[in-house]
Amino acid sequence: MIDTHCHINDEQLLANADQIIKDAISNGVQKLICIGWDLESSRTAVNLAHQYDCVFAAVGFHPENLENVSDNALTEIEKLARDNKVVAIGEIGLDYHWFKEESEHANQKIWFIKQIELANKLGLPVSIHARDASQDTYDLLSQHPINNGFVLHCYSGSPEMMERFAKLGAYFGFDGPVTFKNSITPKECVKACREDRIVVETDCPYMAPTPYRGKTNEPKYIPVILEKIAEIKEISLDKAIEMTDRNAHELFKF
Ligand code: NI
Repeated sequence: MIDTHCHINDEQLLANADQIIKDAISNGVQKLICIGWDLESSRTAVNLAHQYDCVFAAVGFHPENLENVSDNALTEIEKLARDNKVVAIGEIGLDYHWFKEESEHANQKIWFIKQIELANKLGLPVSIHARDASQDTYDLLSQHPINNGFVLHCYSGSPEMMERFAKLGAYFGFDGPVTFKNSITPKECVKACREDRIVVETDCPYMAPTPYRGKTNEPKYIPVILEKIAEIKEISLDKAIEMTDRNAHELFKF
């Protein structure tokens, strides 16, 4: 099993990274992609990837964390991204949930495009954060294609948009919300998702799956999410694991 999107570089988890990684492995999670959200957290992700064979890294500036972004900072991201344990640029994208101003959206787009160009230059896939910004994300990706694949992490758009994103080459990452009792759309999206485009993630420390909702999330909960995916898609757990593993390897080439 592979956790394609986790933040063990988050201060809530970092001090216990050793135990958290051990627990992940003993629960069958063989690979983890630790995702940066700014320069510092990207550095930490790469350091963790050097410390642990099973950890890989993604580096980049999250749309909520653009206060320190600059061309110089992006040059530093590029240096990190050339490391052979970096498997993606991310997480990058658009967040209109927390940012409502047109000027903020415009700024997010500028840095999203620059980081897509970086990913294309380095031949890397992209881990995308798109929140309440499905249409703009789609339009931007149509105009600035990603050459080496991308995942819409914690996919929260509609099942209809999935088909359109899939035509651009998207993979879809599912996590805790598919297990939440009252969540309908994430379950519909899992149901509708093509079998060759689905990957699994925790996005820890956030959004722990049921029955751990409200607690600190960890990669060791990946099997809980996979069980739910298997149930929704009416397939065996083994098949769900096999399919999501294969897709993650296809996308991240590790
Ligand atoms: Ni994340």
